[in-house]
Amino acid sequence: MFDIECDVLEGLETYALDEMRERFGRLCLSVTLRPGRIRTLYAGELRSLLRLRSVLAVYLVATYDVPRPRAFLGHQHLTRLLRTLEMVRSLERPDQYRTMRLSAAGEDSSVLTRLKETLAHHTGLIVASDEGDLLIRLRRAASNNGWEVLVRLSPRPLATRAWRVCNWPGSLNATLASVMMRMTQPAATDRVLNLASGSGTLLIERLLLAPARLAIGCDLDREALQCAQRNLEAAGLAKVTRLEQWDATSLPLETGSVDVLCADLPFGQLIGSHQGNEMLYPALIAESARVAAPGARMCLLTHEVRLIERVFEQHADAWTLTNVVRVRTGGMTPRVYLALRTTAPVL
Ligand SMILES: C[S@@+](CC[C@H](N)C(=O)[O-])C[C@H]1O[C@@H](n2cnc3c(N)ncnc32)[C@H](O)[C@@H]1O
Repeated sequence: MFDIECDVLEGLETYALDEMRERFGRLCLSVTLRPGRIRTLYAGELRSLLRLRSVLAVYLVATYDVPRPRAFLGHQHLTRLLRTLEMVRSLERPDQYRTMRLSAAGEDSSVLTRLKETLAHHTGLIVASDEGDLLIRLRRAASNNGWEVLVRLSPRPLATRAWRVCNWPGSLNATLASVMMRMTQPAATDRVLNLASGSGTLLIERLLLAPARLAIGCDLDREALQCAQRNLEAAGLAKVTRLEQWDATSLPLETGSVDVLCADLPFGQLIGSHQGNEMLYPALIAESARVAAPGARMCLLTHEVRLIERVFEQHADAWTLTNVVRVRTGGMTPRVYLALRTTAPVL
């Protein structure tokens, strides 16, 4: 049985837990949720945890009954800690680990500096001051009795996707994209349209959850489309998608021809402007209503809460809001809106 902690975006705890329960069922016991964290006892294989798509990072937790970190330098605790590090490293190819980082309050103290050097010596890794491949976190146990060591199970956070070979300003956190697409209840028969697709995050994460009958990403910006193309190729999905330079407010698609619509809309800060959004949002929601098939699901992310809610009210004949989730990401708290196309398409 392993003691496991997952970092998740605040607001997505229950959605990430849904994914864990779906994948691992009863292998996850005594789960506790805290803002941005899921703690569980896990009876499965550690390697399987690396497949989770809605968590930022997974850690193996070991609790030590010691009064202060100095005790980790003693033979018994150091041996146990090194064994844990070895077990975690064995989940990946050896060349994936070159550096290590010890993260703790007072990490530059003489004791923790000695601990870092000792661990580096025994593991053969180089101490990194910022990002380390092997990330070790040290903190007081919640009960205040003893200390906990958390070792990240992967050399990069799980949120850092291998498919992301092209970064785009304002690109969406991939774990949030995965949760948004899970909310649309993916089916292989879906015709999926990612509006304002940027670097393709939503489209890629959708196709990694399930195949689709049709998958289109559209954006006005040619560079964004090129960036999405590179990411799709890296994900091995270029052949099953179409990227189009379309205006999301005027789509060359037939009425009622799409089952799933998704977008991470311009928030009007890094991308677009509030004034521009006053025009864009109503037009985009109206056009979405036209192309959506009856029963279609639409999942949107925006920080323009008042504007989008006003626009949904104005289009209440076409879209019914079924879920709103506030999520903390990139220093902001945008909301995810899930809506259902309720009536026959507007002709
Ligand atoms: C927040 S970004 C999307 C980022 C994307 N989710 C990603 O992960 O890279 C918003 C995108 O909307 C696009 N956009 C803005 N207005 C548009 C419109 N009328 N039609 C299509 N795309 C539009 C911008 O070019 C930009 O790429």
